[in-house]
Amino acid sequence: MTVDGRIASQTGYSKLSCPWDLKRLHELRAASDCVMVGAGTVIADDPSLKLKYASGIDPLRVIIDGKLKSPASARVFTQEPWKTVLITSRRGLKAEELGKRGVRVLELSGNKIKMKEAMRGLYDLGCKKIMVEGGGRLNWSLMEAGVVNELRVTVSPFIFGAGRSLIDGTGFPDRGSGPRLELRSAEVCECGKEVHIIYEVKPSPTV
Ligand SMILES: NC(=O)c1ccc[n+]([C@@H]2O[C@H](COP(=O)([O-])OP(=O)(O)OC[C@H]3O[C@@H](n4cnc5c(N)ncnc54)[C@H](OP(=O)(O)O)[C@@H]3O)[C@@H](O)[C@H]2O)c1
Repeated sequence: MTVDGRIASQTGYSKLSCPWDLKRLHELRAASDCVMVGAGTVIADDPSLKLKYASGIDPLRVIIDGKLKSPASARVFTQEPWKTVLITSRRGLKAEELGKRGVRVLELSGNKIKMKEAMRGLYDLGCKKIMVEGGGRLNWSLMEAGVVNELRVTVSPFIFGAGRSLIDGTGFPDRGSGPRLELRSAEVCECGKEVHIIYEVKPSPTV
């Protein structure tokens, strides 16, 4: 994220990582059972979510897409679609077609996906260590539901002044209502310009 907490500018520009940060990201992917992103990220970036800067086995990909807005032509649905789990609350032709390609479709009830329910579904599929790569609205859904154990953020020396925030939702009213963050480490990146911070996350007392 930028120094002002944005993961994308108002025009959708989001390339913030230096090569060392990308390597860190891919090593974390390699150490995870699955990598999760929201529909907004699939639409904006069309990520493959595969390993490029680390070796290992590509993790399972998980797409949270309540209203099934992401295009069927997205790379996560066309490149080895059997390695993708789609979590949605929409049944219909599109979900059926993706299912026929091999995408595992997890249909959950309610307009808004209940993240605890989604986590239980993923656990049953063998996903014990889930890495979330955003975007901001998915990050909010997970923080609000109190299902996040750890937050890792790299602060890059830029300011956008507007755009998508790291955690973007209806918000907590004060500092006592949100999750409690305990600092685990803060290190200057090898590039000398970014800071990588790790927090342990304890759910808010109200969840
Ligand atoms: N700098 C970075 O590291 C980084 C990383 C990732 C993404 N990004 C950027 O962030 C932007 C995308 O972020 P975003 O916040 O717009 O999108 P997002 O979080 O990727 O996806 C948001 C969508 O996911 C669905 N969703 C999330 N929680 C849900 C829930 N509980 N139930 C049902 N559906 C749920 C919603 O779909 P419905 O509206 O259909 O319900 C929502 O519109 C892009 O510009 C991308 O480039 C940056």
